[in-house]
Amino acid sequence: MAEQKATNVHWHEGDITREHRGKILGHRGATLWFTGLSGSGKSTIAVELEGILSEMGVLAYRLDGDNVRLGINKNLGFSAEDRTENIRRIGEVAKLFVDSGVVALSSFISPYEADRDEVRALHDAAGMDFIEVFVDCSLDMAESRDPKGLYKKARAGEIKNFTGIDDPYEAPGKPEVHLHSDQQTLAEEVDAILAVLRERGIING
Ligand code: ADX
Repeated sequence: MAEQKATNVHWHEGDITREHRGKILGHRGATLWFTGLSGSGKSTIAVELEGILSEMGVLAYRLDGDNVRLGINKNLGFSAEDRTENIRRIGEVAKLFVDSGVVALSSFISPYEADRDEVRALHDAAGMDFIEVFVDCSLDMAESRDPKGLYKKARAGEIKNFTGIDDPYEAPGKPEVHLHSDQQTLAEEVDAILAVLRERGIING
């Protein structure tokens, strides 16, 4: 848990509630937290889902590991501490999106269960939906896809601490959605997620 450094700071409540914003948008927000190896398909699924939700009139926004690391988290690397801070910050950002009424699609390797559980706890405490989507894919398959050529570099020793090669990945114990991206089609994966969003009443129809 990150330390509260600033003292004498107080939450300032506004007049417009989360419920009110939900009425404006016609749906409530939620965080879909995609976790899995690099190359497992997290971003691909999030992009597809964002398109489908948009067609349904549901406002979704992708928070993507690579993109976020080019901006708000550009000062973080891949040590265990930096990965934890990466996930902590994005957990807070996702929570802001949910509060605004948006469906946040967060795709980060997020290799540590404790870090993901912190983000879950943050959402639970605020009465927000946190839906963990485990994009399960064998290392063999992720490595054979190697969309960015990074596994090749990691095997050659050109990248250190690469998840799955010389850095750990802790699979979720109880994800709300467990996909097998080395066996399922993209459409099947998206359908499985939409089913959970329907069950929870986040989307209709
Ligand atoms: S996380 O572990 O902190 O959650 P995040 O999802 O933000 O990682 O970033 C992972 C992306 O950074 C990978 O998809 C890959 O493109 C790139 N990357 C560069 N170096 C590494 C590394 N050492 N381990 C994992 N991914 C890396």
